[in-house]
Amino acid sequence: MTKKKKELIVTSALPYANGPLHFGHLLEHVQTDIWVRSQRILGNRCIYLCASDAHGTPIMMKADQENISPEKLVDKYMKEHKKTLKAFQIDHDCYYQTHSDENKKYSELIYNNALKNGYISKKKIKQLFDQEKNLFLADRYVQGDCPRCNAPNQYGDNCDTCGAKYEATELKNPISIFSKKSPIIKESEHIFFNLTSLENEIKTWIDESSLQESVINKLKEWFKDGLKDWDISRDAPYFGFKIPGFEDKYFYVWLDAPIGYIGTLEKFLKDSKDKASAQELWSENSNFEIYHFIGKDILNFHALFWPALLHAAEFKKPSNVFVHGFLTLNGKKMSKSKGNFLLADQYSEILKSDFLRYYLASKLTNKINDIDLDLKDFQKKVNTDLVGKFINIASRVQKFLKSNNNKIGTDLEESLIEEFRKEAEFIFNDYVNLDYSNACKRIMKLADSANQYIDQNQPWVLAKEKINHKKVIKISSTGMNLFRILNICLEPLIPETTSKINLYLNLAEDSFEKISSSVKNHEIQSFKPLIERIEDEDIENLIEASKGG
Ligand code: 2FM
Ligand code: ZN
Repeated sequence: MTKKKKELIVTSALPYANGPLHFGHLLEHVQTDIWVRSQRILGNRCIYLCASDAHGTPIMMKADQENISPEKLVDKYMKEHKKTLKAFQIDHDCYYQTHSDENKKYSELIYNNALKNGYISKKKIKQLFDQEKNLFLADRYVQGDCPRCNAPNQYGDNCDTCGAKYEATELKNPISIFSKKSPIIKESEHIFFNLTSLENEIKTWIDESSLQESVINKLKEWFKDGLKDWDISRDAPYFGFKIPGFEDKYFYVWLDAPIGYIGTLEKFLKDSKDKASAQELWSENSNFEIYHFIGKDILNFHALFWPALLHAAEFKKPSNVFVHGFLTLNGKKMSKSKGNFLLADQYSEILKSDFLRYYLASKLTNKINDIDLDLKDFQKKVNTDLVGKFINIASRVQKFLKSNNNKIGTDLEESLIEEFRKEAEFIFNDYVNLDYSNACKRIMKLADSANQYIDQNQPWVLAKEKINHKKVIKISSTGMNLFRILNICLEPLIPETTSKINLYLNLAEDSFEKISSSVKNHEIQSFKPLIERIEDEDIENLIEASKGG
């Protein structure tokens, strides 16, 4: 019986449109893309969406510094992000931006629904205000002395020295980082989303959505501390969407950013001339399952505010939110100022994206621990696994197939091929369960078995006697079939290499079902180099680049 195919909407978190993408972004996109590709190979429909996050004060300020409009700045980075992610084979169906008509429409709709359903209220709040810049100051735009321990140069939300949490208005001797002047305290009316009244609904969603254990624990901590209503408005000047019914109030960037997932879906549907609207696919009774991949730092937005907002607006809540840890580089936190930082484009100039994808995958599990990219270990792992074990299988047997006009024969060691086939199912299961590390281990174990099979049968000895021709072709054809199964298993991880191999094998491997039949009586191309080793020089170049050189 064939399983019913699923329909999935998948997203990676939206990178801010005020700078180039770094390795942290890549970790998330690679993790998502591997999952998406696996689902597609398994035959599920998977719409993969992402966009540049366009709104907020930092983007407004950066545009101001560059003397261009925020729209121009966002367009520039959106194009750049798109190009960078393409170079890493990230296969989005649509990469858009949140400053779009589609996102405006859904932000207004969701807000209006929440308002109609009684989840919006107004409250006057006091904030620091920079009179020279005519700007309310967000926590990170003000510095002063900690109100508890007096440590100097602390931001407006918490103290690095004593760990105290406080309101920006409590800071002693506050200074605006823009004008370097002392701000005044000014009152203004803000719009709130009534998160507290949705606590039970969020808890029900958590119970239903099989979140990772550490995610559930974190959420429990927040519930214990008590939820607060969420301030979703910002006063002008602000780069964002105006709140319906107000002259000078804008949606806070974190309100319209996740709605950007829906706006991007609308754009995708329009561009692909699909008759459905994003509203239908995201409706409470839609058949689509919705999955968000995010880093652990933005969990509150995706696992508290977002499901609550969707509930309030009568939209479908996420089926799950997959959370990953941070990426460290050579054992240390990535930091530009400390000379330990890599941009995605810097890497692309030096090495193939597949290598990085494979290495990150070999370390990714469904836990939210941080992951280290150790450049020496990276070189060793890629060279040992992909070159030494995987590609080696093909290079060892292809030369014998030459004597068969480059044809894979009809006589095969089917029982061994069947073992590989069975294991391939577990490998794809690991992908679906986000345990890519285990999938890599299984693949390399199979590559070892394939190499052992060739070692034990010694085709290079048999080939010395003409009489052994059939045996040699059987061994080589079996080896090539094992190689082909591994190639399908590796497709989500190293798609550039595997499609090159598909050309070499004269095969179109677009679905998992194809694995069920062996390749027989089939001509392949003459062997060409399929992958190159990572050289010491490449690693030296990466180290140099990471220092900011
Ligand atoms: O943390 C960030 O980089 C945000 N730009 C992520 C937004 S994800 C989504 F909610 F839009
Ligand atoms: Zn302090």
